[in-house]
Order: sequence, then structure tokens, then C-alpha cells
Amino acid sequence: MTAVFPGSFDPITCGHMDIIERASQFADRLIVAVLRNSDKTFTFSAAERVDLIKESVRELSFVDVISFDGLLVDFLKQNDIHLIIKGVRTVKDYEYEQQIAWINKNLWADAETLLMPTNQKYAYLSSSIVKEIAAYNGDISTMVPDCVKRTLLNSSQ
Ligand code: PNS
Repeated sequence: MTAVFPGSFDPITCGHMDIIERASQFADRLIVAVLRNSDKTFTFSAAERVDLIKESVRELSFVDVISFDGLLVDFLKQNDIHLIIKGVRTVKDYEYEQQIAWINKNLWADAETLLMPTNQKYAYLSSSIVKEIAAYNGDISTMVPDCVKRTLLNSSQ
């Protein structure tokens, strides 16, 4: 089955990587779908976020990386995909993701969402926290893939 792992990935972290790797247990193809435009302000452009993910998943042959615009359910319909995978760190995440899952189900009844608890060792991680630590030259080695670390540390100099 093909599944979509949608998100902002600004930038991808080890928490995201853990979900991607574990998703291979139930998806034989996983599309990491990077949100292109929204009201959010991103640190990295969509092309940069896609490139960082591609570099991070280069050894995972079941993963494809694309960017998308508009409603996630429209992307799913266009590509005949029914399964959305999201990671949840906390109860707060869970409540938010449950609401989004209900919205997506409401928009398209064929959309199913699978919420996966993140690995406990990454439960504290977020893209914004990683960027803040990098801005102060803190050690982010265990938090992000190497290519992201290099990019963040270069941009903080
Ligand atoms: O990494 P994030 O910020 O949790 O990702 C959120 C994302 C991209 C999955 C969500 O914002 C999304 O699907 N946006 C596309 C627009 C959409 O479909 N909105 C309706 C559900 S709120």
C-alpha cells in the first residue's frame, strides 16, 4: 500500500526520520509530501526542504519526496492514495492531529489517517527547537540528519 507522510519539514528532524523508517512496516511506498505554500512562514524554501529530505532518505528506496500545494485530500485523490501517516509526540499533538484527521475524513471519506507515537527519545524534538539551538551553535547531532546539521550550522554563521 502507498501512504503519504505530509508536513512542513522545516527542516526534517530525526523524529520525522523515525516515522519514515517505521512506516515501511505497513507501506510499501511512502510519499513524503512537503507543504509548499501556506500562511506559515518557512525558514527553508520548499525546494530546500525537499532536497534535505531527499538527501536524508537516499538509502530508503521505498520513499519518494515531493512538494504539494492546496488541500492534502486533493493531492491524495489525484494520486489515488488513501492512507495518511502522521507522528504524534504528545497529547497536545494527538488532539490537533485527531482534529485534522476528522477534517480530512470529512473532506474525503476515503482518506484514512494513521497516527504513530513518535519514538520516545525524540518526543521533545521539533523543527523550531532545532533551529533555535543551531542559531546559538548548540549541538544538534542527535536531532537531525547530517545534511540538515551542515545546512543549519552554515546558515547560523
Ligand atoms: O508539519 P505540519 O505543520 O504538522 O504539517 C501540516 C500539514 C502540511 C500536514 C497540514 O497543514 C496540511 O495538510 N496542509 C494542507 C492544507 C489542508 O489540506 N488543510 C486541511 C486540513 S487542516
